[in-house]
Amino acid sequence: MKLPYRKKLVAFTLEASLLFLTPPLISATASTNVVIEPQKRVQTRPAKKAVTPKKPRVDYSKFSHRTHVEGQKLTCDSCHKVPSKNWKEVRKADAAFADVSDFPEHSSCLNCHRRQFFARERPAPVICANCHVNNSPRDTSRYLFPSLGDVSDPILKRRELVSEFGVSFPHDKHIDVVGLNLPHTGDNSSALFVNVSLQEKKKDATPASCPVCHQTYQPQGNSSEEYITKPPKTLGDNFWLKKGTFKTIPNSHTTCFTCHNADSGIAPEAKDCNVCHKLLVPDGNQKADFDQKLAADMAITDKFILARWSRRLSAGAFRHEGGEHPDLSCMSCHNVTAFNTLDPQTMKVPVRSCGGADGCHITATSDDGGALNFELDQKKKDPAFVCTKCHVAFGRELVPEDHPKAMPTPKPKVNPS
Ligand code: HEC
Ligand code: HEC
Ligand code: HEC
Ligand code: HEC
Ligand code: HEC
Ligand code: HEC
Ligand code: HEC
Ligand code: HEC
Repeated sequence: MKLPYRKKLVAFTLEASLLFLTPPLISATASTNVVIEPQKRVQTRPAKKAVTPKKPRVDYSKFSHRTHVEGQKLTCDSCHKVPSKNWKEVRKADAAFADVSDFPEHSSCLNCHRRQFFARERPAPVICANCHVNNSPRDTSRYLFPSLGDVSDPILKRRELVSEFGVSFPHDKHIDVVGLNLPHTGDNSSALFVNVSLQEKKKDATPASCPVCHQTYQPQGNSSEEYITKPPKTLGDNFWLKKGTFKTIPNSHTTCFTCHNADSGIAPEAKDCNVCHKLLVPDGNQKADFDQKLAADMAITDKFILARWSRRLSAGAFRHEGGEHPDLSCMSCHNVTAFNTLDPQTMKVPVRSCGGADGCHITATSDDGGALNFELDQKKKDPAFVCTKCHVAFGRELVPEDHPKAMPTPKPKVNPS
């Protein structure tokens, strides 16, 4: 008895809310004299179906930017509005800034997807699932918009998805303008220009800007526990993932929009999404120094760690907090001025940087204790030897050309003549 009534109510709320939220729908249909009656439209469909040839089924639960940005030539701002209506709610008080903090509204889809929005699918049309959590007309909550990477919410969920975009960030243009003492609000952006070059700038010192955007993730600090998960008792000297291995990368607009906003006059402004976000062609061949099985054996479940580890292209075992690494300038290993953040190959750490000024892992002779010297010797003796000092997966492969080349050339013998 309750059921039919509720069904009706559901259908009503759905229609009512869609109509309510989408004035363009009303005017568009009025001008073409089509009566808005979603239920009826759906009912006329079976007859049509019989004559049209079968097209491949479109999955309306998986929105693709390629279809819309490249195929339909839609601009970002035809869907994404900034600031979003909820920008003052997702971040409170001083932390709030004019951000794109919610999904596009129905009006940006309806001109093309009226049929999918009114499809008779239970419990709700599949297309709703791109933005709404429960796919049910009674629960209208939406996922946390992915740009809110730094916002934690006890109730709102995040949607698992692989981004179609890469971030284009020119390091060279920012090294000297991003300072440590950034205020949280963007109301006085000129105050942000801490002139780092005027500070006493030691040659090769870490620029003050790096730690604004990259911090050590889960550092060991003063804790006596160095491993992320409990290693087996038999571990010995074998590799097990330690705290302080990874550096963070920005996961929101919080830092960027302190300078890039509608008022500062510093291009790109917030609405120019496509200057910072570029559609990527997925590269399935990118090999990483990462072993999924090993990560599973170590019970690593932290999403950030898995994301960073699986993107390591140089040295999967390298730990930022390890040994003397924290005392070195970031620039001695990362040549950021040559970075193109859309092309991982340009961000590789050259093997010679493992040698440092004092030799460190690359020494004049093997007797001086260089790890690379030792492993090269072993590999020469036995091709089955696995190099584990710096690598997780690469150590089983052939030695790349640049490894022996990184060895210091012995001083030429003086010719006795
Ligand atoms: C047709 C409407 C539409 C257009 C045009 C559009 N978007 Fe989106 N965008 C969406 C929807 C819907 C979502 C949420 C669903 C999803 O994440 O796939 C989204 C999510 C995103 C995300 C998070 C998901 C991801 O893949 O990283 C980013 C980033 C994004 N949009 C950037 C852009 C940029 C940059 C442009 C312009 C080049 C753009 N969008 C154009 C509708 C659109
Ligand atoms: C200018 C017309 C247009 C607009 C506006 C538009 N779409 Fe689409 N969309 C299409 C076309 C064309 C396709 C290809 C499949 C089809 O013909 O339905 C498509 C496909 C899709 C698909 C299937 C997967 C894919 O992306 O290929 C989803 C999901 C989708 N759209 C969601 C949305 C949402 C959500 C919005 C609003 C935020 C939106 N679209 C806005 C034209 C549009
Ligand atoms: C492209 C993302 C997107 C899709 C797809 C989408 N919605 Fe929404 N929906 C929103 C946003 C954003 C709002 C809030 C609009 C506002 O605040 O004005 C909203 C609001 C609503 C509301 C009003 C309640 C409220 O909290 O304001 C209902 C009901 C609703 N959506 C149902 C649906 C249903 C049913 C579908 C599928 C047919 C659907 N939505 C598809 C983004 C979406
Ligand atoms: C000044 C550069 C810049 C501009 C302009 C910009 N973004 Fe971003 N955006 C970033 C950075 C940096 C991140 C954090 C890195 C990341 O999550 O990939 C980010 C993250 C995001 C994310 C989360 C991405 C993910 O896959 O989880 C979304 C969604 C997003 N931005 C949407 C937009 C939209 C929509 C616009 C335009 C209204 C926009 N951004 C404008 C730089 C920018
Ligand atoms: C204003 C923020 C900002 C500052 C300052 C900054 N970076 Fe970055 N960095 C980024 C962003 C954004 C990316 C791209 C992340 C991505 O691909 O999503 C990045 C990427 C990187 C990467 C590559 C990460 C990877 O994917 O392998 C390294 C290494 C790096 N930065 C080092 C540095 C160093 C060293 C400095 C100081 C000279 C620095 N960064 C200053 C924002 C910043
Ligand atoms: C001794 C060399 C060395 C020093 C010094 C160093 N890094 Fe790294 N960094 C690496 C290596 C090696 C990787 C892994 C790169 C890969 O495998 O693709 C890395 C990766 C990164 C990444 C990507 C995330 C990750 O951990 O995989 C960021 C961001 C980064 N470093 C920032 C910094 C910053 C900021 C500093 C200075 C505070 C710094 N690094 C100092 C060697 C170094
Ligand atoms: C302290 C202020 C400041 C912060 C924070 C900042 N930027 Fe910038 N950004 C600038 C300035 C100034 C320029 C112009 C540099 C120039 O033209 O030489 C610029 C330029 C850019 C450009 C355009 C470069 C070009 O070729 O036109 C991009 C893209 C960009 N920033 C992205 C970002 C992203 C992404 C973030 C956050 C991760 C960020 N910026 C954070 C000040 C900042
Ligand atoms: C002191 C640290 C260190 C040691 C020891 C080391 N490597 Fe590397 N390896 C690196 C770094 C840094 C890179 C990234 C730069 C590059 O591609 O050469 C790298 C890259 C690689 C690559 C990827 C090359 C590519 O084309 O992407 C392979 C394969 C590799 N190493 C194999 C080995 C083998 C085999 C050994 C043992 C003989 C070894 N490495 C010892 C630091 C090390």
